[in-house]
Amino acid sequence: MTGAIADDLLTAQASADPYAVFDALRRDDPVHWSETHRAWLVTRYADVSAAFANKAFSNDRVRPVLAKQQARRAESGEAADRPATASERVLALMSGWMVVSDPPVHTRLRKLAAGAFKGQRIAVMDAQITALVDELLDGFLAGAGEQDLISEVAYPLPATVIATMLGAPPSDRDLFREWSDELALVAFGTGGAARAERHERALRGLNEMDAYFRGLVAQRRAEPGEDMLSAMMSTDESDDKLSDDELVAMCALLLFAGHETTTNSIANATLALLRNPDALAALRADPSLLNPAVEELLRYDGPIKVINRWVVAETELAGRTISPGERVHLVLASANRDPEKFTDPDTLDLTRSPNPHVAFGKGIHACIGAQLARMETRIAVGRIVERLPGLALAHEPVWKDALASRSMETLVVTH
Ligand code: HEM
Repeated sequence: MTGAIADDLLTAQASADPYAVFDALRRDDPVHWSETHRAWLVTRYADVSAAFANKAFSNDRVRPVLAKQQARRAESGEAADRPATASERVLALMSGWMVVSDPPVHTRLRKLAAGAFKGQRIAVMDAQITALVDELLDGFLAGAGEQDLISEVAYPLPATVIATMLGAPPSDRDLFREWSDELALVAFGTGGAARAERHERALRGLNEMDAYFRGLVAQRRAEPGEDMLSAMMSTDESDDKLSDDELVAMCALLLFAGHETTTNSIANATLALLRNPDALAALRADPSLLNPAVEELLRYDGPIKVINRWVVAETELAGRTISPGERVHLVLASANRDPEKFTDPDTLDLTRSPNPHVAFGKGIHACIGAQLARMETRIAVGRIVERLPGLALAHEPVWKDALASRSMETLVVTH
């Protein structure tokens, strides 16, 4: 192992182009202990895949934080019956999410949510999503000069889709976007006074969200519809049911998991095409390329760089001993560029087949919304390419210095 290996994934340079850092890690120290991140960085495809199947790596990472906060409060002598802090309430909501649960809790939640994600239920959304994309593109086309494709199209779409699928009225769409941002702020922690203040505001917003979803659950219980929420209440498989609290948590999870990821999927895909004009021209000439193109765009520069796991038992990965209490970052964006798995991994090849990328994860937690995410990306990218023939990048984009997501601040273009 080379002690001096560059492993800081949060420098401006690594945020703009993390792939050089990943290449070096994959080659020189594929299961690397990073002092910078206080975590193991796992960068090869084979090791990331093995880690997804390893029971020593746990997703249960919110409950321990909540337990610690509650214990701290108890130690400080606060009355036990004092209402939970806003932070505790949000952590309690998040601790019920399947994505931060291990079996058997995860198994049960996933099974009860699965009905809402059945292929047919998602497939019928095609026309509605196309209409939403076209509505956003109409607004975009009405503007002239430099415009941000993220704020105008890629950002509003996914929250609107989730609001629609949960059966919320269109007038409430803006609320969903705000809550999604607030969830991200709370979930990814805070730093600095300004962020601490935003955090407080976000917590207040999330309490409103909680109340809103509770109202929606009550409405659907009284009057079930064709929406996802009603589907998650139905009990065709067994007598087991999601409680009201669990349904509220599920609504928040779908919003959290499905918003920023899909926004970035659409934005990163568009940028990759703009930077690869031959691929863009090929897609314009032959729209039947769209399905393999979406897979390749997710592989080439997908929205998630890193997925976290906590180590709960001593284990080995590529000859390294990993101990309980340590943290592991599975670097999906690096696995997807591993030359051991993909020929010419740094080339965007819209016809690549097979394309076993791990942009949606793998194993028991593999993205339950993948079909919906693929559909949204396919429709948005397809309509952008078709309706904006003069699309051009106005500025080099600025990337957010985020560890988990591959995310631009803006994507300023002309059309
Ligand atoms: C391109 C967009 C998306 C990407 C790249 C993505 C990626 C992922 C990944 C990598 C995981 C695995 C997390 C882990 O192993 O810890 C995951 C899980 C999940 N995703 Fe997505 N996702 C996307 C869109 C969506 C959408 C649209 C929804 C729903 C509306 C959604 C809902 C979920 C849920 C509920 C989980 C947790 C599944 C479980 O724990 O069993 N995702 N996603």
